[in-house]
Amino acid sequence: MNIILLGPPGAGKGTLSSKIIENKQAVQISTGDIFRYNISNETELGLKAKAYMDKGELVPDELTIDLLWDKFDTLGEDHKDSIILFDGFPRTISQAKALDEGMEERNQKIDMVIYFDVDDEILIQRLTGRRTCPQCGATYHITNNPPKIEDVCDKCGTKLIQRADDTIETVENRIKVYNKQTSVLIEYYTNKGILKSIDGTKKPDLVYKEFEDKLEEIN
Ligand code: AP5
Repeated sequence: MNIILLGPPGAGKGTLSSKIIENKQAVQISTGDIFRYNISNETELGLKAKAYMDKGELVPDELTIDLLWDKFDTLGEDHKDSIILFDGFPRTISQAKALDEGMEERNQKIDMVIYFDVDDEILIQRLTGRRTCPQCGATYHITNNPPKIEDVCDKCGTKLIQRADDTIETVENRIKVYNKQTSVLIEYYTNKGILKSIDGTKKPDLVYKEFEDKLEEIN
């Protein structure tokens, strides 16, 4: 089953992905994580992507679409019964069209799009307070979800970091870019009849519960 997690930066896409993976047979494809992996390994792709990500702009479609399929195609038979979570992809109409075409070529389809509804003010508070573990990827928030020991990952003991694009200026631009280039996908998937909205302002466990309810509706 293929599910898109669609929502503004900080809406809770990564947090919900982790909960789904904890509870179900599921795997996440996060284009943001793939770019960050390439940046930390100083690959050619990473260097190109960094210039856009640091400003809160989208990485160009031609760098993003192939990368998505590379990752998707490596999942193969091992994940044929898994829920595949598309986190942060698509983000433009042309990415959405490329996804439709690629799915058709593979005799697959997008089964559901989960749209997270969250106000800008909350997004800014969440992102500027987010801390992440560079080792295992766990996500925290300085007040909403602090680690047991300040700045130390509960899961692996690594020192937490603030993402380079979680500064107030970059966060504000990411939200602007989302409103301009990505929010059109709400209508795109509504017209296809596969979009389901969830209230992303609820606590993570309740957001997960809403996800489970939506999943039941299509099963
Ligand atoms: P990406 O890594 O995809 O970032 P994003 O979409 O901006 O989303 P975030 O990861 O910041 O937020 P999230 O919704 O996952 O929230 P989270 O769960 O972490 O993309 C980064 C960049 O890469 C882009 O700007 C772009 O440059 C590039 N890029 C990536 N994909 C691309 C594409 N397809 N095309 C072109 N460019 C692309 O939660 C955030 C915080 O809130 C955390 O602290 C968390 O603890 C807290 N929180 C989460 N849920 C709740 C809740 N329910 N209640 C209270 N707190 C919560």
